[in-house]
Amino acid sequence: MKFTLQNAFPAQASSESLWILVDSEQLQQNLNTYQINHLDDVLNATQYKAGFNDNLALLANVSVQANTQLLGLGKSDELKATKLAKLAQSIIKSSQNKFKQISLDLSALPADLHALFVLSLTQAAYGYDEFKSKKNEFVLETIHLIASQTTLDEAQLKLIHAVQSGQNFARDLGNRPGNICFPEYLADQALALAKQYPDLLKVTVLDEQQMADLGMYAFLAVSKGSDRPGRIVTLEYNAQIDQAPVVLVGKGVTFDTGGISLKPGLGMDEMKFDMCGAASVLGTIQALCEAQLPIHVVGAIAAAENMPSAHATRPGDIVTTMSGQTVEILNTDAEGRLVLCDTLTYIKRFNPALVIDIATLTGACVVALGKVVSGLFTPDDELAQDLQQAGEQSLDRVWRMPVMEEYQELLDSPFADIANIGGPYGGAITAACFLERFTRDYRWAHLDVAGTAWLSGATKGATGRPVPLLMQFLANRVQTNG
Ligand code: BES
Ligand code: MN
Ligand code: ZN
Repeated sequence: MKFTLQNAFPAQASSESLWILVDSEQLQQNLNTYQINHLDDVLNATQYKAGFNDNLALLANVSVQANTQLLGLGKSDELKATKLAKLAQSIIKSSQNKFKQISLDLSALPADLHALFVLSLTQAAYGYDEFKSKKNEFVLETIHLIASQTTLDEAQLKLIHAVQSGQNFARDLGNRPGNICFPEYLADQALALAKQYPDLLKVTVLDEQQMADLGMYAFLAVSKGSDRPGRIVTLEYNAQIDQAPVVLVGKGVTFDTGGISLKPGLGMDEMKFDMCGAASVLGTIQALCEAQLPIHVVGAIAAAENMPSAHATRPGDIVTTMSGQTVEILNTDAEGRLVLCDTLTYIKRFNPALVIDIATLTGACVVALGKVVSGLFTPDDELAQDLQQAGEQSLDRVWRMPVMEEYQELLDSPFADIANIGGPYGGAITAACFLERFTRDYRWAHLDVAGTAWLSGATKGATGRPVPLLMQFLANRVQTNG
């Protein structure tokens, strides 16, 4: 989706339809720059009050544009950012199949919501039809934004465009099934990105032999059950900047059967989404390349498939991690922490300023927080605050959960340094506590996106979260550093 910006109608002559946002308290004022014939009669006859998300089609009675739609905000000063997605969907769903270009008058919307609303429009426009014979008939290409006063500018639109393409890339990767999107496929996607941006991006791929040489036996304990070999991929963005990098580590389990601790069959198809953390890292790196943000970032993805087989890890097996700590694998379905712990040790070589891992780590996090906010775990109050703020700013929110010392004893093992599960209570927390043992040499936060990375039911599909959050976090850092 492309956007143009202007301060008054008429927009581009080529625009085929006009949407005007209207405040229920200022309906007349919002419309007084438009010549609408018999406006009072129309409003009376239709009893249109511009309530939230109520729309009214003005067909032949507007001289400026044949097809004009009013879309109500309710009282705009009471409008919450979290309601923008619904408005965006109303506009996109009814225009997407019909018009190549539309105009949209945002003037009634509070200016501090303009950027988020544009982002919501791009999110509503996503569709996934790669494996459908009958393709989506989306024709909408350009939205001409009209605002009498706005904080939006070309630089911001460029950033939104970058977030959009990174988020869509993450959604596409997430939606691709396990027979297409497996560890080597994710590595190939990273290599293809590096080819596209040779001056900005350097990609390296570790194979299983290299991992064995490094002593990454927790990672290998997961991938050895699969015929698809595992990969650890690093993507270094903007290495030439003299600055310690932010390192983003993504869980890339391309399919999670649970291994020998096999998952129940019902809904197991959704475990193709278990690589959405890795997808969000790839999406963020792509967005950075497009926006060319002046910041040093390293992405690392831990890509493996978790399968049961004669080669698979048995419950009770003990392995040594790259850090030297030994792990008793009591449940092979707690595999995300196993592929992540060795990757979190490996990335120390980049001397990170801070590390954020992103993982569809626990069903317990979905029970705790549902599908609205991602779980945020970090001992670092300042980092927590920065991530919470970025979440609010990008409409990609997080909620802080504890990673306290008192939970660590739940991971005690009679046979090894640590067990890979912590029992029935506080499952999202004990998973975070497991990772915490491997992150003591740097500032670190963990995002459990098990609930937010995809939707189920009628709207099943990857969301591309938390690409908006991560990009906002990085953009904020550029601002405070420069
Ligand atoms: N990928 C799953 C977590 C998950 C489950 C995400 C359901 C979204 C929906 C993870 O690998 C897993 O299986 N976790 C186990 C951990 C348990 C064995 C301690 C879980 O949550 O059941
Ligand atoms: Mn699992
Ligand atoms: Zn998993």
